[in-house]
Amino acid sequence: MKIIIINGPNLNLLGQREPGIYGKESFDKYLLKLRSAFPDVIIDYFQSNHEGDIIDKLQQTGFDYDGIVLNAGALSHTSIAIADTLSAITARVIEVHISNVFAREEFRHHSYLSPKCFGVIVGLGLKGYKLAIQSLIWAD
Ligand code: DQA
Repeated sequence: MKIIIINGPNLNLLGQREPGIYGKESFDKYLLKLRSAFPDVIIDYFQSNHEGDIIDKLQQTGFDYDGIVLNAGALSHTSIAIADTLSAITARVIEVHISNVFAREEFRHHSYLSPKCFGVIVGLGLKGYKLAIQSLIWAD
């Protein structure tokens, strides 16, 4: 089974960025734990601060990967272009937000991506990525 995690803008700063909201752990460290928790799953990882690069990666992986875990960061709230890409691809996509976006500013309450995703995990910290992978493994 082959899964890719795609993280959007500013998620390269996890561990340093607003630790009270996003926690103190870097994604690189968390990724090591994830990979050892799922030794039978190939977990690729891509992060970009650029909308077009995220679209390119979704197009490259979205027809042959078994699943995509997508945290597009602030682009979730703005990007019709990424939403269109999600409509085009066939892989199952789980949207993840580390923080509880519904308990934050109103502009974070809407995601253009959620209606295009198979499921959404919000507010459970980095554990959300693990639960997303688990849900892709259990998918029928
Ligand atoms: C986020 C929530 C977004 O509103 C924010 O812009 C992010 C991170 C989250 O994981 O909680 O960059 O997607």
